[in-house]
Amino acid sequence: METIHVNASKPYDVILKAGVLSEAGRLIRNELEQRRGTAGMLRCRRVCVVTDETVGALYGGPGQALHTSLRSAGFETTSFVFPGGEAHKTMETVAQLLDHLTENRFSRTDLLVALGGGITGDVTGFAAAIYLRGIDFVQIPTTLLAAVDSSVGGKTGVNLPAGKNLAGAFWQPNLVLFDPAVMTTLGRPLLLDGMAEILKAGFIADSNIIYDAMNVSSIFEHPETMLRLIGSAVNVKRRIVEADERESGERKLLNLGHTVGHAIEKCSNYEISHGAAVAIGMKIIAKAGQALEWIESGYGDDICDILGYFGYDLSCPYPAWALADAALNDKKMQGGRISLVVPDHPGHCMLKEVSAADLEDIIKKGL
Ligand code: GLY
Repeated sequence: METIHVNASKPYDVILKAGVLSEAGRLIRNELEQRRGTAGMLRCRRVCVVTDETVGALYGGPGQALHTSLRSAGFETTSFVFPGGEAHKTMETVAQLLDHLTENRFSRTDLLVALGGGITGDVTGFAAAIYLRGIDFVQIPTTLLAAVDSSVGGKTGVNLPAGKNLAGAFWQPNLVLFDPAVMTTLGRPLLLDGMAEILKAGFIADSNIIYDAMNVSSIFEHPETMLRLIGSAVNVKRRIVEADERESGERKLLNLGHTVGHAIEKCSNYEISHGAAVAIGMKIIAKAGQALEWIESGYGDDICDILGYFGYDLSCPYPAWALADAALNDKKMQGGRISLVVPDHPGHCMLKEVSAADLEDIIKKGL
């Protein structure tokens, strides 16, 4: 078991532990008691488990470990199940969830649990941020990507037709619980999806992550190494979130590969997954950065080799103009300029502000 304490504006623990779903009720109760005192904890009577159809069938049923442990801890439980996928990461899903909460008379002292991947976590967190002007929520990520990135740091939100995550709120969870055993139910594409965010953490701030991941062949068959990598990636994120929770500076580094990555996801109508798109996005900025001499000579090739070693398909099916067009609708553009995250040497990235008008040419150099 590993516990990582995130000292954000609302401090919380990330607990990585086998079998944690069957302890969730007790852990949530303890957490509420510490935060609110016994009387405050007792005012949390209802817990809504929010999940998608796939994860709900695996872990979210009324007779399964999570609901059973919540009820044993004295909570009444309800479920809100929605179809998975980016197409449902919408205001409409949030509105349906809010209706479910009012129909079930959730009060300000009750709680939401996000059981699932990044989409479920983002939708649940956003509903928690706005229901009755804000209620508590707990993240129980069931994908590698959600465990190492989206469940930590308090970014919540939904997509708008113009792009990804264009509406949302910073709203920190009370607790994050991850059972590494869930990785056995993830196929290789979902594992690679999460691995892209682990490698991203390595490129941003911790080269040991890269060495550790490359030290074994068939990384996904090494649960101990995987658990260590998850802890290291969460720690990179923790340090950055603690320094800049609301992304006024350093937190932008966590967007390595994301400017182009989000554009690829959008151009593919979300057929290309987030991690796969971020891997291509990291390749493009590494190659472009090398061509433009923003980064240490040869390091752009090293990044491409590392990504290739893990088996990512780094070919990009979209032209530079389409990617630039999609990226420029992104919220990260300010006053005709856009901040790119450039991996300039191992374990380090820098922010490079460029003119929006130059983005297409920059992308072209990285394709
Ligand atoms: N996924 C990037 C961030 O949380 O800032």
